[in-house]
Amino acid sequence: MKKDILTLLDLTREDFLHLFQRASELKKKHKNGVVQHSLAGKSLGLIFEKPSTRTRLSFETAMIQLGGSPIFISAKDTQIVRNEPVRDTARVLSRYVDAVAIRTFSQDLLKGFADFSDIPVINALTDLYHPCQVLSDLMTIIECRGDYQNQKIAWVGDGNNVAHSWINAASVIGLDLRLACPEGYEPKREILDQAAAEGCGKIMVTNDPREAVCDADVIYTDVWASMGQEREQTIRVEVFGPFQVNESLVKRASSDAIVMHCLPAHRGEEISEKVLEGPQSVVWEQAENKMHMHKAILEALIIERKKEK
Ligand code: CP
Ligand code: NVA
Repeated sequence: MKKDILTLLDLTREDFLHLFQRASELKKKHKNGVVQHSLAGKSLGLIFEKPSTRTRLSFETAMIQLGGSPIFISAKDTQIVRNEPVRDTARVLSRYVDAVAIRTFSQDLLKGFADFSDIPVINALTDLYHPCQVLSDLMTIIECRGDYQNQKIAWVGDGNNVAHSWINAASVIGLDLRLACPEGYEPKREILDQAAAEGCGKIMVTNDPREAVCDADVIYTDVWASMGQEREQTIRVEVFGPFQVNESLVKRASSDAIVMHCLPAHRGEEISEKVLEGPQSVVWEQAENKMHMHKAILEALIIERKKEK
């Protein structure tokens, strides 16, 4: 496995399969009360420039349960806000902690940090990607549907950071992915082109949510205005109205389809209360699996990578 997970294109198909298998093993151990201190003596720095409930807490608990220590660093309390260069922060942190998870706006800043860091750098969400989210979501799909293969996955809503990571995943492990986004809110052309060039997976983009969910096995949605887009909220609510995942849309999918949302959810906007709380929703399993997947990621980057050196 490469040193960093900045995007899912940093992983091979084998890396994906290894992480699915290890995360599920660690989940079973955890449920059976087996203590697993594989990261004893190790520490993870978490630098967050945007709010987080799930990603922050699941990385922190993952580290604690594996016997290591998380150190949360609110970016506004560091010298980063006083313009200390990212490359300096990266080199200093490399001497203190064993890995760092970063949630920030700019993918370039994350890349700049990784370029100057000796320790693994994990993307905990940027404006462009949310790779760890999609890894744990695929784990949830495997649990609920038996496999990720032969599953028709429908993304309904904004062509945002989570959608971009789905496109990356589709191109690495070969997914049948249909994305329905309003005109002008489709995923970035270069990310779609890169996936098409890989030639692995079937990716379709449409402006019609009914076309995307037709016979789908998985329906996935996310907020209409992501963090940093708050000023566009009003206009987005108008544009995205027909893209709400509600009972009538879900009826068009396979009768045993699962409904996913990375959360936080805005009930009555991208998803109706009934669907979010309904029997097809697996959102709480999704949230839980973030912790199990983050354990597998941390082990792979901190211990297994060392063994490979
Ligand atoms: N899904 C997710 O990343 O949630 P948080 O923003 O709460 O971390
Ligand atoms: N697209 C959302 C995901 C939140 C987990 C955002 O970036 O705000």
